[in-house]
Amino acid sequence: ADQAAPPPPQMGFNNWNSTHCRDEFNEAMIRGIADKFISLGLRDAGYRYVNVDDCWANWQRDKDGHLQPNPKRFPSGIKALADYIHQHGLKFGLYSSAGTSTCEPLQENRGFPGGLGHEKDDAATFASWGVDYLKYDNCNNQKVDAQQRYTAMAEALRATGRPIFFSVCEWGENKPWLWAGKPPVDAGSWRTTGDINDSYGSMLKIFKQNVVLDSYAHPGHWNDPDMLEVGNGGMTNTEYRSHFSLWSIMAAPLLIGTDLRKIKPDALQILLNKDVIAVDQDPLGVQGKQVRDADGVHVIVKPLKDGSEAVVVFNEGDGARDVSVAAAEIGLKAGNYRSRDLWAHSEATGNGSIKVHLPAHATAMYRISQL
Ligand code: DGJ
Repeated sequence: ADQAAPPPPQMGFNNWNSTHCRDEFNEAMIRGIADKFISLGLRDAGYRYVNVDDCWANWQRDKDGHLQPNPKRFPSGIKALADYIHQHGLKFGLYSSAGTSTCEPLQENRGFPGGLGHEKDDAATFASWGVDYLKYDNCNNQKVDAQQRYTAMAEALRATGRPIFFSVCEWGENKPWLWAGKPPVDAGSWRTTGDINDSYGSMLKIFKQNVVLDSYAHPGHWNDPDMLEVGNGGMTNTEYRSHFSLWSIMAAPLLIGTDLRKIKPDALQILLNKDVIAVDQDPLGVQGKQVRDADGVHVIVKPLKDGSEAVVVFNEGDGARDVSVAAAEIGLKAGNYRSRDLWAHSEATGNGSIKVHLPAHATAMYRISQL
């Protein structure tokens, strides 16, 4: 029998970038986000996971040693929340750390219980709640070998019999691109960098770290340059378009990190760009390759299943630039091509070469197919 094709990069939402551990992070918020997935058209655009990050848990395990939610934030319990999300045709993700406790709170002398040494029990709890996705962080790891820690949870999740997407959040410390994407860990994605923040400088730094790791991504197993900041207010719309274009051409997970209950139309339009999403989700499953990194200009090429290719031209610098890209530089043979501009939504024909005026920090993105 045919095996199902490995999944494209995961798409969804995670609350961390918009709320961290502030009180507004609670079950009412997460339910509101699930509602917005439907009303804003995000589910129709392919976004599936509604994921909850750190600070969902109670300070202590219950008397039998099981994880339990913080009763103030999640008074109805996690199972009820997962049910609500499933009723919307969506999937539910939860968070833990491959350590003795999670990362927050940073200042206080106590923490939320982590999964190290509790893998079987916690995986069984997650499965019983209807969890579809686990983000597994790296804090308080007691310097236990990373492959050992992530293998233990991966095996415990598989042993539950419930398909649970495994997101390795190891920050690139032990080169997870070399081991996390194959058995025994066999994770769906692995973080390649430290945390993003809502600034152009942070986005740029993370892009540069992740773009050179293209050879390690393969269908169902993706480099994860961290979640999106689109809509959070710290970058211009030009910069957020670059952010979304770069993540998509890198076949990165597309996890929305802004509070969808308050999103502005400009940001929503970026997250709903179906042409750009299709590049990220393309079934060929190849991460784009950087073919030029010179003088502040980046050119990245991603081959697509239908024989066309996606191309990003990104001006990292603080001044406007006129950029030319020859057809041969992006791997095109002599011929006639149609080039669709994925942000202007216009089409042109020619030999496949690109000439574009790019304002500071701007990106142009194309889908080029042979005529
Ligand atoms: C570190 C991770 O890299 C972040 O994405 C977030 O999950 C925080 N920990 C939560 O404490």
